[in-house]
Amino acid sequence: MSTEIDLDEHPAKTKRPYFLTFVGLLTIAGLISLPFVAGEPDGDKMPDIVRFLGHFHPFILHLPIGIFVLILCQEFVALFSRHKPYRSILPAFLGAASAVTAMLTGFLLYQGGGFEGSELVEDHLWGGLAFACAAVLTFIVKIWSAAPGSSQALYRILVLASVGVMTYASHDGASITHGKDYLTEYAPDSIRKLLGLEPKEKTEEIPVKPLEEQIVYADIVQPILNKRCVQCHKEGKSKGKFRMDSYEMLVKGGKEGDGIEPGNAEDSNIVYRTELDEDDEEHMPPEGKKDIEDHELAIIKWWISEGADPEKTVADLDLPDEIREAIGKLDRSISKGGDAGTGDKPKANTPSDELRAKVAELSKDFPGGLTFESQSTSNLTFTGVSLRKNLTDDLFAKLGSVIPKMVTVDLSASSVTDASVALLASATDLRMIRLSETGITDAAIDTLVKLQKLESVNFYGTKVTDEGVKKLSALPNLKRLYLWQTDVTPAAIEELQKALPEVEIVTGI
Ligand code: HEC
Repeated sequence: MSTEIDLDEHPAKTKRPYFLTFVGLLTIAGLISLPFVAGEPDGDKMPDIVRFLGHFHPFILHLPIGIFVLILCQEFVALFSRHKPYRSILPAFLGAASAVTAMLTGFLLYQGGGFEGSELVEDHLWGGLAFACAAVLTFIVKIWSAAPGSSQALYRILVLASVGVMTYASHDGASITHGKDYLTEYAPDSIRKLLGLEPKEKTEEIPVKPLEEQIVYADIVQPILNKRCVQCHKEGKSKGKFRMDSYEMLVKGGKEGDGIEPGNAEDSNIVYRTELDEDDEEHMPPEGKKDIEDHELAIIKWWISEGADPEKTVADLDLPDEIREAIGKLDRSISKGGDAGTGDKPKANTPSDELRAKVAELSKDFPGGLTFESQSTSNLTFTGVSLRKNLTDDLFAKLGSVIPKMVTVDLSASSVTDASVALLASATDLRMIRLSETGITDAAIDTLVKLQKLESVNFYGTKVTDEGVKKLSALPNLKRLYLWQTDVTPAAIEELQKALPEVEIVTGI
């Protein structure tokens, strides 16, 4: 190839960088074909090395961001000062190489499973891919324009474009790890309005049951296990073939047999493993993970000694002072007295196995969307936020059998219509619903007025009208109503406020 160099046309002594260009183009082709050749991610089949390398993604991704910001500053300075353009191709090379590495580790993380069906994650995947390709292209253009006197225009345009794509991809990425509104979460309403966001929604406080009424397993023990152990011992990631995310699994145990021996704490494998010397290879949690606290272990041992019953409440068991103290130390709020707020106390009806199974089954279609409100209720909360526009009426209809259990539902920014809201007629315990930025109309309100427990309704950015919202005055428990960016007129809002003096109507004004 290098024999083709035409010295007459190119008097500079530089060789034309055919080889690097070829490698660059090959890299781009490889990256683009990656999602197509790799197939669907399947966490269970992936060797651990995939996850191991994938876990480097959150570190590596900061490199290309830093390098590209630096390049951008360099070019900015060069553009506005009389400096000669920076000729070194090193920053562009490092930018491209780190972008490709970030992309590849991110892809392995994705292949390791657990993100299936999340539109946000898929968006981020394509964003990262586009950025890596743009970064390589930027490098290719840089090596062709490195010779003295070459125009830097195309290079600069590509740097700018890469930074643009990078910003988009990293925003999606941050939304995945920190939640969609991480940056704006604490923004004052005035700033949120400028950004076109809806006003802050106050979180509803769920009253906590008095200690005596708490179910020892569901309200106290399982949350400890969730915090310390479940991350490695759950469905899809059951180390030692041992799952600790449900009572049945806990008893069933793993490779080594039963996880717990009711009535016998010392012989229970979960206690045995946690009490082993920290240097012992079998000690749980493994080295590097935060150890379980003494008071947490004391509670678990107490519960097992008392028979490890899944249903019994604190009052049913013999509660020594030191255990009462240990429970008090747990990182959670327990109301001391019986007056736990004004709302209805959550019913202590632990979900049936049938309901658990159903929810687990449905979770395949709604990853992370359908969850129990707490360990000790069969109340469900649903959010379609990660599905966004992919959440259609047809998909929502799949939830039919569990809709009556729903207490909070978030359908914002999805594709659902009045038809989905009509299905919610059976959710007689529904307390909160968000329909913001959906295609629902006044017809939805006809369904909602039947749900007497509704406390918070969000219609931000919908087509509801004066006629419709008037009917909401039939809701006895309504506390908060969001009507920002709807067609509802100020006059109608005033009238509604008169009919519902207790209700906070949020209009964004
Ligand atoms: C960082 C991941 C991790 C965490 C956190 C963790 N484990 Fe493990 N656990 C493992 C691995 C890996 C194994 C398999 C290797 C072994 O048996 O030592 C295992 C095995 C076990 C076993 C043996 C299961 C069997 O039958 O073979 C028990 C019991 C256990 N863990 C209990 C616990 C308890 C209790 C906690 C919380 C206090 C916990 N683990 C937290 C990774 C973890």
